[in-house]
Amino acid sequence: MLLNFSNFKSFMSRWLFSVSHKDIGILYLSFALFAGLVGTSLSMFIRLELGLAGRGLLDGAGQLYNVIITGHGIIMLLFMVMPALFGGFGNPITLMFEINQMNYKLLYNKNGSIDLDTEIPLTEIETINNIMEQYSSDDKGQPLSTNNVHPQLGPYLAGLIEGDGHIYVPNTLYNDKGKRRYCFIRIVFTKFDQPFAEYLQSKLGGFIVDYDTYVTLNIVAFDKLVFIINLINGHMRTPKIEALHRLIIFLHTYYPELPVQSPKGLDLSPLDSNSRLSGMSDADGNFNIIITKSKERRTGYRVQINYRLELRTTYPKPINPLICKASYEDIMQSVANYFGVNMYERERFLFNKLRHFYIVIAHNFTSHKIVASYFSKFPLYSSKYFNYLSWYEVHIMQLNNQHNTQKGLHRCQAIKSNFNSTLSPSTINFNHLRNFYI
Ligand code: HEM
Repeated sequence: MLLNFSNFKSFMSRWLFSVSHKDIGILYLSFALFAGLVGTSLSMFIRLELGLAGRGLLDGAGQLYNVIITGHGIIMLLFMVMPALFGGFGNPITLMFEINQMNYKLLYNKNGSIDLDTEIPLTEIETINNIMEQYSSDDKGQPLSTNNVHPQLGPYLAGLIEGDGHIYVPNTLYNDKGKRRYCFIRIVFTKFDQPFAEYLQSKLGGFIVDYDTYVTLNIVAFDKLVFIINLINGHMRTPKIEALHRLIIFLHTYYPELPVQSPKGLDLSPLDSNSRLSGMSDADGNFNIIITKSKERRTGYRVQINYRLELRTTYPKPINPLICKASYEDIMQSVANYFGVNMYERERFLFNKLRHFYIVIAHNFTSHKIVASYFSKFPLYSSKYFNYLSWYEVHIMQLNNQHNTQKGLHRCQAIKSNFNSTLSPSTINFNHLRNFYI
């Protein structure tokens, strides 16, 4: 069949329902190009008509000539010049302005989680190898079995690891000096989230290493590693699947006796079908409450909230395109589509390097409702859970238009001023972990 319907459908949803500024700009430019061709063919006709002596092509039908001129003018001006100028070039330009605005906001955003997802520093790899040598590779704890685990544990951990985790696979089993090298999965947590890291350690095993500004949970022992691999295998949605596959192949090659499943492909199920996005939001998402002065409001203030997810644009290692594209565009675009908002691209300096990020911001009522319904179904478990609760309270006030009353405004201001202060590591109470999947 000439037209494969599933391709046709994905083509339609890719282009006709896209909410990306870049895509919409491209659609405008394509339309302008098409209109330009029609307008040009009319102008060629005009030239031909004018160039011929006597009654010409139109055989003296002067009125028709006028119609063609008018058609040419209208098509060129309204269907070519204007769409190309405003829709085609204007869309990406809007994008640039909004990006600048966001850079500014981000500088002042204290709860913004930065992407710590660069390469693991060599010193940390050494630390982990040394710890493993000292403790003879076993972090005591119950052997775990993937039978009877909560079905949402795998997707959640996949999201958390894809967001703030590293999968480290050495190139060789022994280094030059004959020392054994370990493979491991390491998850980075902020200091606020140390209780969460400790909770996960108590359930999943591994050991915690405390650095100045962050802690890491390192899963190295084979039984714990195999447990996590088998849990997250099949739930990966980003190019980090490459590292998981590398780890699986490494274990299959050097430790064939371990019960490691074969590598599975990307999870292409709808985003709202599992907890994968909540794991990733615990890593790379955040919630904001913004209160600004506004003369248009009765209260004199405007209260806005948003949820934001930010991921780098490209995976730094080579990746087999048959498994996954090296770009994070698809996953971020699907998050944007799910919330019905745009995906932006921005760049900023991080650790002295210019880095590129995709960013999705749920900023309007419709998207807030989707955010709230998703996180009520698949809750957050890191300290971001507390920010979500505050965010949710303001969201409900906005739904009832209470934020535009003096009383409501004061409540919003109080929520905002407490936004991160509850997150002092000493007072923090992670009782919500009682409902965690393990
Ligand atoms: C990018 C936009 C446009 C292009 C590339 C374009 C191109 C052309 C060309 C090549 C001709 C034939 C000229 C000749 O050889 O005599 C022509 C004729 C003409 N165009 Fe356009 N055009 C454009 C926009 C417009 C607009 C916006 C209008 C009016 C609103 C317009 C009105 C006319 C008229 C009245 C003629 C006939 C001129 C004559 O009598 O020689 N054009 N155009």
